[in-house]
Amino acid sequence: MNLKKRLIISNAAILAVPLLATIAASFIFIVVSSGAFKADIGYENAKRLTEIHYELFKASGNILVESPEKLTEKDFQQYIASRLSDIKADIIVLRKNEAVFATKQLNKIDVEKCLKAGNGGFFGHSVNLDGTDHIVYVSSFTFSNGDQGRVILLAPTAKESLTFEKFVLFSLAVFILSFLITNIAASFVISRSILKPVDRLKRESGEISRGNLEREIIEEGDDEIRELCRSFEAMRLKLKESVYMQMRYDDNRKMLVSSISHDLKTPITSIKGYVEGILDGVAGTPEKLEKYLKTIYSKAVQVDNLIDDLLLYSKLDLNQVPFQFERTDIIGYFKDCVSESEYELGKWGIKISLRTEIQGFRHVMLDRERLKRVVLNIIDNARKYMDRPEGEITVILRETASNVLIEIQDNGPGIAKEDLPFIFDRFYRADAARSQRAGSGLGLAIARQIVEGHDGKIWAKSRENEGTSIIISLKKAK
Ligand SMILES: Nc1ncnc2c1ncn2[C@@H]1O[C@H](COP(=O)(O)OP(=O)(O)OP(=O)(O)O)[C@@H](O)[C@H]1O
Ligand SMILES: [Mg+2]
Repeated sequence: MNLKKRLIISNAAILAVPLLATIAASFIFIVVSSGAFKADIGYENAKRLTEIHYELFKASGNILVESPEKLTEKDFQQYIASRLSDIKADIIVLRKNEAVFATKQLNKIDVEKCLKAGNGGFFGHSVNLDGTDHIVYVSSFTFSNGDQGRVILLAPTAKESLTFEKFVLFSLAVFILSFLITNIAASFVISRSILKPVDRLKRESGEISRGNLEREIIEEGDDEIRELCRSFEAMRLKLKESVYMQMRYDDNRKMLVSSISHDLKTPITSIKGYVEGILDGVAGTPEKLEKYLKTIYSKAVQVDNLIDDLLLYSKLDLNQVPFQFERTDIIGYFKDCVSESEYELGKWGIKISLRTEIQGFRHVMLDRERLKRVVLNIIDNARKYMDRPEGEITVILRETASNVLIEIQDNGPGIAKEDLPFIFDRFYRADAARSQRAGSGLGLAIARQIVEGHDGKIWAKSRENEGTSIIISLKKAK
């Protein structure tokens, strides 16, 4: 249920239930009292009762406004008596418990009864004298000489009138009671549907703030609270993801630092070794010296290349160099690539050829320089790891409805299954490659960054001892 609806319903119930309960109870009261006591709590009775109360109240007010001595004056006594006779009421004035003026003769016991009843409840005060119910008002005062004085006002009422009083009291009690019960019940229901889920949410978010991101936040309660739970759960998942990413970044950074230091240290250590050799006069002959210097030069070139690769890699990683995309005929582009590498590969006894299966649209948006870097890195790997005297590299161009697929295939040693998923990771080198050939493990990582910069994909297929295929998929130009 919706929270707003629930609040409206509970507020309405707090008002409506006591009203209905009071009406129902009043109805039962009327039926029962008219049946059992033959009492009529009708309008006329209610009116007469109100009149009596009003007159007695006014009269007692009048008496108190005047000085107490006035009560002993004949004229005033007559005036009061005539006023009270309209409602058939009587007055008894007491001075030190002695009646100094009375329109009705009462014995001592009745006077006591009246005085006692005069201190009764809110509706004045009823007393039974000679079998008739009377309403009684009592006011106290002091005469000028210090005597205590009291005025008793008495008015006879029908039995029904008193039943009406009871009726009003009863209805009021029913209303107050049912109002309290409904209130408590409504608060209970509201607190169950709002406070319980909110409390739970509070606990869960406490867990999150203490760093426990594993506990799922379950949706419960009204619509609005469910929505709140959902937002919290989304926040928890985001937070968990970012913590995980942060951990991965940290691991990556550590890996990067250790790989860079390792890859830089190896050639520099050997440069240091050769230089020491020369200084110590180990390279005795000019031939030996030349050999040492050539090795030093090749190691320096290796460090230089590594630093170039690192710089390029980190620039790509930070998206620092923007790509220059040009609409390019992919077949023409690869014809050029193949013919450019033919000569160099020929020196190593490796043949390269192009096969195209593209029939239709052949244009792709390329950063030509960057993609050349990708192709060269892949061809360079094929050459570097080639272990056959008749090495062959085939570039195959294919197409799907929206993509161009470029496969660069070699018949080299292949890549072991357990290495295949990692060859595009930076600094990753299969153990075999590590021991045999120079390299830093950045070639394919750079290739992947460049291809992804083209919104393309790159992956590898390989069988050990049969060869490797690196496949690039690029979107056709619009
Ligand atoms: N054509 C291939 N044949 C066999 N193994 C390959 C081939 N291409 C890549 N590999 C494996 O994948 C690893 C990663 O290649 P990558 O080009 O990223 O690094 P590298 O060639 O070792 O070093 P770099 O290219 O930075 O000089 C290589 O070390 C090698 O083990
Ligand atoms: Mg390489």
